[in-house]
Amino acid sequence: MSGDPHHPRVAAAARGELPPWSRATAGRREHIERVAGLIESWARTLGLDPAERVRWTAAARLHDALRDADPKELREELSGPEWTWPDPLLHGPAVAVRLRGEGVDDEALLLAIAYHTVGHPDFDTMGRALYAADFLEPGRRVQEERRAALRERMPHELDTVVLHVVRARLEHALEARRPIFSETAAFWSQLLEVPGASDAG
Ligand SMILES: [Fe+2]
Ligand SMILES: [Fe+2]
Repeated sequence: MSGDPHHPRVAAAARGELPPWSRATAGRREHIERVAGLIESWARTLGLDPAERVRWTAAARLHDALRDADPKELREELSGPEWTWPDPLLHGPAVAVRLRGEGVDDEALLLAIAYHTVGHPDFDTMGRALYAADFLEPGRRVQEERRAALRERMPHELDTVVLHVVRARLEHALEARRPIFSETAAFWSQLLEVPGASDAG
């Protein structure tokens, strides 16, 4: 293979550089680094080739790059169905829009970032890993035991663990009487069909 197969923004994120337009507080950057650390260790354990590891780590670094931006500004940048999402979820789609505008055309990576809060049945393995890592990173202070137990099972039981994570997030949404996204419901239903993943019932 000749040259770097990755877009410069993706390669830079994998090296640890956030885009100049990112808006992430110091605390948020610590969360991002914990998610990236988890993802990196899983990718290594799974024996992924270096190019794929770059995608995984870049997705983790970029997923919350706009988490601390003004949601009003982010909403103005969106035109698809995500335009109607609640404020706290706009940062994912907004990062995807900016990356696409810079020429990133890795659709699976863009989807993983855009839907990291919601889940999506079209996620590739990296998208599912990011969804799980965002929830399981060790800095989160709620449900610590549940998270630690699920981390123990990664990455070899990825689909089973992701099913548990979807369930935990659904439970939270139901308790808070928040609407359920159709993509989340489709993600859940798809995971139930993965052989061996349905022990989360
Ligand atoms: Fe996020
Ligand atoms: Fe996050």
